[in-house]
Amino acid sequence: MKKNKIFVACDTTNISKVKEIIKKTQNSKLEIGYKFGLEFLNSKDGRNYLTNIKNKIIFADLKLHDIPNTCVSTIKALKDLKINYLTIHISSGLKALKACKKISSKIKLTGVTILTSLDDKALKEIGFNKQVKKLVYHQARLANKAKLDAIVCSAQEVSIVKKIFKKEIITPGIRFNSKINDQKRVLTPSQAYKKGSDWLVIGRPITKGNIKKNILSLIDHLN
Ligand code: C5P
Repeated sequence: MKKNKIFVACDTTNISKVKEIIKKTQNSKLEIGYKFGLEFLNSKDGRNYLTNIKNKIIFADLKLHDIPNTCVSTIKALKDLKINYLTIHISSGLKALKACKKISSKIKLTGVTILTSLDDKALKEIGFNKQVKKLVYHQARLANKAKLDAIVCSAQEVSIVKKIFKKEIITPGIRFNSKINDQKRVLTPSQAYKKGSDWLVIGRPITKGNIKKNILSLIDHLN
């Protein structure tokens, strides 16, 4: 049987903590990848650590959001790292997405839609008039046009994204045993897979507290 796929978000600046997360999340029931974001990759030792990591599925969640030239140059600057997935905000625009896709070679260029920490009210505050669901649909069309390899969205929008985007769908904002924290558009792991997510991104519900216990409780939840 195919294993459920999870990216564990390693949101820390502490290398020992990352080692602990990797060690304690190994198990035979799930396929695990590791996501490193702005916090880790901007820390002094973080990037260096990533150059030495072997045989792991690596997700660099840099959420690029800049003009085409800067996004392209940034991806080129990452070429020494063995990255499997890399994120760029779809709101960087079609030109930036296409330019990055042209040079990203083996890295799966992954478009980020509206952050799972935002709801309709927060979007209005920013000045966006469309509702979350409509914006996400719109952005999925753009990701498709730019031939991106994957999309990040809330599990609540997977069915909308699937209408237009046929490749991998990665969903953060997953909660099964703990606080919602700063997330707004959340679902449980089993709900997210049912909707058709290919990968779930889970951070604090796994990495805070007893990691082994959290993984067991996740596996339990999925059975
Ligand atoms: O701890 P938690 O499970 O909320 O972590 C979610 C992770 O997914 C964080 O690393 C966050 O940066 C990332 N993420 C997200 N929402 C997005 C894109 C990425 O929460 N739309």
